[in-house]
Amino acid sequence: MTTAIRQIHPVFVGEVSGVDLTLPLSRDEVAAIEAGMDRYAVLVFHDQKITDEQQMAFSQNFGKLEDARGGNITKPEDKRLQVGMNDVSNLGKDGRPLPRDSRERAFNLGNMLWHSDSSFRPIPAKYSLLSARVVNPVGGNTEFADMRAAYDALDAATKAEIEALVCEHSLMYSRGSLGMLDYSDEERAMFKPVRQRLVRTHPVTGRKSLYLSSHAGAIVGLPTAEARILLRDLNEHATRPAFVYVHRWRPWDLVMWDNRQMMHRVRRYDDTQPRDMRRTTVAGAVAATYLGGPDMAPQTPQAARSAPA
Ligand code: OGA
Ligand code: MN
Repeated sequence: MTTAIRQIHPVFVGEVSGVDLTLPLSRDEVAAIEAGMDRYAVLVFHDQKITDEQQMAFSQNFGKLEDARGGNITKPEDKRLQVGMNDVSNLGKDGRPLPRDSRERAFNLGNMLWHSDSSFRPIPAKYSLLSARVVNPVGGNTEFADMRAAYDALDAATKAEIEALVCEHSLMYSRGSLGMLDYSDEERAMFKPVRQRLVRTHPVTGRKSLYLSSHAGAIVGLPTAEARILLRDLNEHATRPAFVYVHRWRPWDLVMWDNRQMMHRVRRYDDTQPRDMRRTTVAGAVAATYLGGPDMAPQTPQAARSAPA
């Protein structure tokens, strides 16, 4: 089989054919997919009936899997899936939809805000790979926005204004915007804000993109209100329909995206019915976004405590 990629959106997104993700990939297939990611930033694979093990094996062609700890409030003993798998379903360990008033469910609803995976980690995500095992009957589309196209479309003055800005990202900012303001001390320590540049340069293509995410809640050196207005403006600009692809899931689709140049969100769905989506995450590189040096040191716990205002 030869791997072929067809662009399915005017700006980005490729649909891949001729590859079977249940099998080990050849070096040429891996190279074709990586080149496709650099170019299209989102790749769609249909009819991939994979197991969790096969999904992890496929993902590891592109780098190390991210350590999922610190990315949610679900206790290890309550996890439905094995280590290495991110559970982005609406299901509890018993396989049933989480109760409406559950804290885990509220936390998971944060995926409905535009974000880039793990932008709240010192080493944020490179690729995410999401496999649809059970598709919800109503809604639940996943949308992707191209942060390269969004950057390119900014005027020169805005590009200059934001070039050197550094944002602070934390799960407490994204969840705080949904009214989740109560965290244990352990959670506060785990969700301590990290600093990321607002403008990123892709390590392979050299293209610049806006590194936006619902987790970004402050900009170093700017008053909070001013920072949030700027971020809101940029988010509005970056998620205009021209830059957005809407994925309507079929069972056994696998969609893979480059978090360094994309934002995504899931839309509302019928939460009384299952939606079983399983993600693997390939870790990125620290040097790409994190700025070292004395004035870039991580925040004090004090500052972190007042974070989700
Ligand atoms: C994710 C995510 C979207 C979805 O997997 O990172 O945000 O469609 N999920 O569930
Ligand atoms: Mn996500």
